[in-house]
Amino acid sequence: MTIPQTISAAATDLASDGWVRVASIDDLPLLEGRRTTIDGHRVAVFKLVDGLAAIDAVCPHKAGPLQDGLVADNCVTCPLHDRRIDLATGQVIGYEGAVHVHEVSQHGDDVWVRLSHAPLADTSAEADAERLVPGDAMSDPHSSVPDTL
Ligand code: FES
Repeated sequence: MTIPQTISAAATDLASDGWVRVASIDDLPLLEGRRTTIDGHRVAVFKLVDGLAAIDAVCPHKAGPLQDGLVADNCVTCPLHDRRIDLATGQVIGYEGAVHVHEVSQHGDDVWVRLSHAPLADTSAEADAERLVPGDAMSDPHSSVPDTL
């Protein structure tokens, strides 16, 4: 059996409450992602050991394809620069930025996704707190070391 690298929402049934059928459960290999497009939004869908996850497929750093990332510990690692994104919260771990976490559900063999349009959490303060330590370049106003990565 050939497993498609991209699952298609083109032939989906659009439910009245916003749920879109995106795949058969058999199209999703364990601990791998597949990309679909719903209403113009690229969404990465993952089959985890204990369920499913769906997040924006575009990394907030430099648009890496998150569906191609490695999955471990309920996170996906972006294949471009190795930033990890929590699949439950959408937060980029240790950096500012986040992606939407979409609702995902399995009914029979069908996998359904409903887009979230909730505002993304502002993680800049949390990320700054992780980067700033005493003696860091940010605490020295005369330092020539850039304060962002
Ligand atoms: S594009 Fe994802 S970590 Fe850089």
